[in-house]
Amino acid sequence: MNTNTFEKDVLTGLQSNPKRLYSKYFYDDKGSAIFQQIMHMPEYYLPGCETEILRLRAKDIIRKLPHKSYDVIELGAGDGSKTALFLDPLVREKEKLTYIPLDISPEILSVNEKIMEEKLPGLCVKPIAGDYFETLKNISSGKNPKIILFLGSNIGNFEGEKALDFIRFVKSFMRKGDHLMLGVDLKKHPRTILAAYDDPAGITKKFNINLLERINRELKGNFITAEFDHYASYDPLSGATKSFLISKAAQEVRVAGQTITFHPYEPIHMEISQKYSLQDLDQIRLKAGFKKDHHFTDSKAYFSISLFEV
Ligand code: AVJ
Repeated sequence: MNTNTFEKDVLTGLQSNPKRLYSKYFYDDKGSAIFQQIMHMPEYYLPGCETEILRLRAKDIIRKLPHKSYDVIELGAGDGSKTALFLDPLVREKEKLTYIPLDISPEILSVNEKIMEEKLPGLCVKPIAGDYFETLKNISSGKNPKIILFLGSNIGNFEGEKALDFIRFVKSFMRKGDHLMLGVDLKKHPRTILAAYDDPAGITKKFNINLLERINRELKGNFITAEFDHYASYDPLSGATKSFLISKAAQEVRVAGQTITFHPYEPIHMEISQKYSLQDLDQIRLKAGFKKDHHFTDSKAYFSISLFEV
């Protein structure tokens, strides 16, 4: 990650009104470790639901993928351990499969390769490290039909129309017969959603506070983290889950040579985790110009793996 971009985004965000920081910066080594803890929290239902769909519905998903060979391109692949649940039955059904995990972190991609080697020996894996906005361009010319995976409800971090813009951007690299496979967290009881982002053990708070600590470490900041509290909200009308850090008092903070002034109870908007209904997803699919969609949900209908066909 370019330090200058990080510095510029942080300063611009903290000098805006309302103040804003971006959740894509949560994931330094410490933040990634805290995210692993979140994935294991009882309140954080998302990974369990997605895993259930991949385990129980993989056959049904594969039935919608008629070609003999595919390039499976995964955006923000991480260690790929969940993806292996889908690739396993897919390898059996297809003649030729190439798995191309894309991730910003080369370290996690080497873990991904090891996991695939162990679970799916013989699978052709071609990892590419880098920003997928850049790397997508280089692989879209392959001649096999493509399945593009974007799992884990990562689409939720795009604010408003940006999600549609992103899906249109991905579609611009796709051809007739290609599929986009999205893991999406669905609208459900507001309390269930809120609990996932407001855990009593304070792990989500730690996840947010870590970005202030990262700013202290990397941008010569002097945030006193005890002077900030975490607050999460869910709006059932829009489906937006938002995370904030709230300044407990009037205070001044230095960051990269600049002074940032906080009023008492002033929020920093840290993250959006958008929730969708299946109807919302149909709208997005239509607006992005995909021909068809299929939704595969878990037994509680908390989460969907949605397949969009070009
Ligand atoms: C990784 C973006 C799917 O929004 O649910 C978890 C990140 N933030 N708890 C999400 C997150 C707070 C997560 N995503």
